[in-house]
Amino acid sequence: MVSPGLRYAPRVPEQSIPIERLHTFQRRGGRLGPQLQRALQVELPRYRMPDTRWDFTQVLPGYHEVVLEIGSGMGEATLAMAGAEPDTAIIAVEVLDRGIAALARGVAAAGFDNVRIHPDDAVSALANLVPENSLSGIRVWFPDPWPKARHHKRRLFQPSAVALMASRLRAGGTLHAATDVDDYAEQMVAVLGAEPTLRPVLLHGPRPTWRPVTKFEAAGAAAGRQSHDFVYVRGSD
Ligand SMILES: C[S@@+](CC[C@H](N)C(=O)[O-])C[C@H]1O[C@@H](n2cnc3c(N)ncnc32)[C@H](O)[C@@H]1O
Repeated sequence: MVSPGLRYAPRVPEQSIPIERLHTFQRRGGRLGPQLQRALQVELPRYRMPDTRWDFTQVLPGYHEVVLEIGSGMGEATLAMAGAEPDTAIIAVEVLDRGIAALARGVAAAGFDNVRIHPDDAVSALANLVPENSLSGIRVWFPDPWPKARHHKRRLFQPSAVALMASRLRAGGTLHAATDVDDYAEQMVAVLGAEPTLRPVLLHGPRPTWRPVTKFEAAGAAAGRQSHDFVYVRGSD
């Protein structure tokens, strides 16, 4: 479904940050309790993706559908997807130790076979580890909004990163983004719309019923913010 008309004037950032200079996160510290520390030491290695180029036939044998979730936060949505889509492999990419540990613990408790974790920068993973034309989906739900104008250069949705994401999708693969920050929604639709290999199937949509409500989204909804979902499909070259 494509909703009629755009709500905001499209605006592509004038300069795209080169991929090698795009830093979309700040590492935050904070001590982890013993259960989360144990999860990092014991559970994470069971699910961790290799640091060398990913060959899904080796790492995820038997899964035809492989989806990358960028910025999985505390991992609730990852676990919900894994349960709802048992034939799809989900690779959760996150830099926050607390979230990585919580997800590893949750995957072990649920006994899911279809979740892997990459505890590092998604941009670097896309550039260096994910093969071209390999993913059936990329899901970026509520990326860090970086609300101050001087920080907009840290936003993930800019031309260089969108081109990189699109190149890692196979033909027919989907890029699904969501945000509850209105001017980031505007930026998303402008940048995604300018990527020639993608075509829109959902613009400024309500949450599709199959997408779990995320922790960040729930906090935004409680504060009166409205989410916008965008789904684009990669065409064949
Ligand atoms: C606003 S939070 C949203 C988390 C979750 N998707 C949700 O909706 O609850 C964005 C998350 O993306 C992570 N993140 C930002 N840039 C990243 C990157 N380049 N690689 C991996 N994770 C990243 C942050 O650490 C943070 O946990």
